[in-house]
Order: sequence, then C-alpha cells, then structure tokens
Amino acid sequence: MTTIVSLAKRRGFIFPSSEIYGGFANTWDYGPLGVELKNNIKRVWWRRFVHQRDDILGLDAALLMNPKVWEASGHLENFSDPLVDCKSCKKRFRADHLLEAKGMKPDFGKMHDHPSALKNCPECGGELTDVRRFNLMFKTFVGPLEDESAVAYFRPETAQAMFVDFKQVVDSLRPNFPFGIAQVGKAFRNEITPGNFTFRTREFEQMEIEYFIREKDWARYFDHWLEQMKGWLALLGISEKQYVVREIPKNELAHYSKRTIDIDFHFPFGQHELYGLAYRTNFDLQRHSQVSGVELTYTDPQTQEKFVPHVIEPTWGVDRSVLAVLVSSYSEEEAPTADGKTEKRVVMKFPKQLAPYQVAVLPLSKKEELAKVALSVAKQLRQNFTVSYDETQSIGRRYRRQDEIGTPYCVTVDFDSLTDHAVTVRDRDTMKQERMKIAELAAYLTDNFKS
Ligand code: GAP
Repeated sequence: MTTIVSLAKRRGFIFPSSEIYGGFANTWDYGPLGVELKNNIKRVWWRRFVHQRDDILGLDAALLMNPKVWEASGHLENFSDPLVDCKSCKKRFRADHLLEAKGMKPDFGKMHDHPSALKNCPECGGELTDVRRFNLMFKTFVGPLEDESAVAYFRPETAQAMFVDFKQVVDSLRPNFPFGIAQVGKAFRNEITPGNFTFRTREFEQMEIEYFIREKDWARYFDHWLEQMKGWLALLGISEKQYVVREIPKNELAHYSKRTIDIDFHFPFGQHELYGLAYRTNFDLQRHSQVSGVELTYTDPQTQEKFVPHVIEPTWGVDRSVLAVLVSSYSEEEAPTADGKTEKRVVMKFPKQLAPYQVAVLPLSKKEELAKVALSVAKQLRQNFTVSYDETQSIGRRYRRQDEIGTPYCVTVDFDSLTDHAVTVRDRDTMKQERMKIAELAAYLTDNFKS
C-alpha cells in the first residue's frame, strides 16, 4: 500500500487534499493523471451500462434534496454506525471494527452483548463508553438561518434520486418494462473512521443503477446483475482470484434489503467491500409514495395492470474502483538494459482504455529538426488520443517513466524519421518495437485501442 500511495502522489494520480495546510481529515485530490483514470472508468461504465443497453436511462440529480427524502428512505432513523468513546484519551472507535479485530462477529442488533470485548481502549487501555449509534448523514443549513427549519443533508447515496424522480422519468420517457435508471455522482457520509487511503472517505463517488422489475422476477435479475458486475471487473483487468462474492447474512441486511451480496476485493490491507448488489424489494418506491402522497407506480401499456415495481440495485464505488485498478495494475519486472544487464521496471498495466495517456511521443534528442517532426506527430495524435510529450533525459528513462504511469504506446521520433517519415512504436507490456510510417500511426493506434 505504501508503494501505491507514494507512486500515486509522485506521479500525479492522487494527492493529500489541502496539503500545504497539513491536509484535511482523510480527504484526497485526484491529480492530472488520477482525474483521467477516474473519468475513463466513469466513461466506460456509462457507455457499457447506459449507451450500449436499450433498457437504462441516465440521471444527474442534485446533491441536496428535500430532507423528507431521508425521512422516507429511513436514513435519518437507521443510517448509523455503532461507536464507543475512550473516557481517557477521548478517541472514538467503530464498535464493530473493534470486535472484528478480536476475531468476533459483531451482532448489530445486540451490541451490548459484547461488554467484555468492548471494555478497554485499544490505544491507551482506558475505559470505553457504552455503545451508541452515530448517524452518518452530513448535515448543513440552506439559506441564511442556521436553525432546525434550514437543516438539509448531503446525499449519502445517489440511489434515492432514482426513486424520487421515478415518476418524472416514466412520464417523460415512457420506458418499456423492465428498465433501469443510472446515476454517477458524489455521496457524503460522516464516517467515524475513514482511512486506508481512498478506501473509506467522507466524500466519494458512486455509480449506481436502480433496475425496476416485477417481484416474481427478482432472483433472475439478481443473477443477471451479478454476471454484469463480474463482466465489469474483467474489463477493469481484475481477475476472479482478486475478489470474493460474499453473501450478507440475514441479520446484517440493511433495513430495505431482502438479499445483498458484497463483492470484496483483496486490497493490500485485507479483504474489503468493493461493490454491492441488493434486492431492495419495493421498499423505497412504497415509502416515498406514502410520505409524499404521490403515486409511484408503473402501468403496463398492454394490460393496463398498475403496480409498484421492485428493484435490483447494483452499486459501484468510483474511488474504490480507481484504488482496485491501481492495485491490480501495479507490477514490477526485471527488464533488460542497453548494456546487457537487467533493471527493475515498474509498470502500471492499466487496461488500455483506462490509461491516463494513451500514447507518448518521444523525440530521440532535443534537436530542433527532430522536435519539429515530433511536435507535429503529437499534435496530429491529440485529435483522437490523450498524448504525453516528453523530451527530457535518456530514451530509456523516458520509457520507464511512461511505464510507471501506464502509457500503452511510446512513439519515438529519430533522425531516420526525417527521411523515411517513419517512427518506432513501443508496446508497454511486451516492450516490442515496431517501425511504421507516420501516416499509418493513427489507424494502428485506433485498431489497438479497439481490441
Ligand atoms: N445505494 C446503496 C449503497 O449506497 P453502500 O454499500 O453503502 O450501498 C455502495 O455503498 C458503494 O459505495 C460501496 O460498495 C463502495 O464502493 C462505495 N462506498 C461506500 N462508502 C464509501 C466510503 N466511505 N468511501 C468510499 N467509497 C464508499
């Protein structure tokens, strides 16, 4: 993990936020390469699940919603974690995490059944308080008055907007059934113990789909979405060995769920949730209908049957996706050097379509006549690809630099290029080099990014 965190910072993927002021409570900023990687993940996801399917519609809802949404969804009442405080050092801990660290299985309903295990502070040995519930909603005030009437909450999941806007989507688009609504966006949770780099933060992004179905079909669509999620993992370059599909026991299910599975990833700090898949029944549409007084139903256009749809919810964390891709792409290899020895090369083997830079253009020397050709090649490629231009230090070092940020192709312009109008293209993974005409370069890269 230390290696990944340090590479992420050094090469401009992820920085500690507000670092010149000493950072800020486990918040992170995506640097120039990180934002490309993250945007590529979101773009590929949207393309796969919205554009390439005929049954999913997109949405981009407001972060701040009417507080009644959170009353109806049960978040104000139920969205909490069990915590204990140390009476001596005043540190705060998640009670379930303390129990898990002792190899015990916490029972959320009966937290006071573990009094002996939760007696002493793990850091100073001081006495711990009783277990209390801590609501994770991020509270704020809307408008100039900071009183109860102005309280609002940043959404803790993108999901609720898909239920609240259900009627508007149905009325305006008249989708065939079954259909889904997809959204990508920020969510906020006042986590008690954020940590492990970007794994658990208070501000993060989700990619979620609420897929509306008939009750009788839930098991079939649950399986369908599990397969879709596995296909997505393969697309991120994550193999089956790197994750575990874990059934959530009945007594740990969220208040709205009849079945949930987590897809856990083997992070360097242990096996933890990467994604989730839940059968939310028709809990949410029913609750919003009750609380708002607005009917949230679907009418079958053929039979005129009216019903409250049930929902399968696949959910993906964007930041955890980025972290899993960084971890699974990282590789160290022995590579041959020009003088016949070998040296360590660090390669980020990102799936090609996720790489921050798709191609690097490297003039062999800084000489003006080479730079002229190289700059024109870079300019031409920038029309269709993301391009890094690098002319400093030896070509070997520049290849290593591009390997370390996962650039799939390096194009080298040398003195022969001036007469044969050809360049050398090096493949990141095989390190094989191929000579080709500059005129053929764009078509070659387009073909290779397709596969
Ligand atoms: N709508 C359902 C829902 O929000 P969740 O399991 O609480 O379910 C979904 O969250 C996904 O969001 C998780 O699988 C994870 O990838 C991501 N996530 C949740 N809390 C997070 C946090 N504090 N920091 C980063 N990602 C988080």
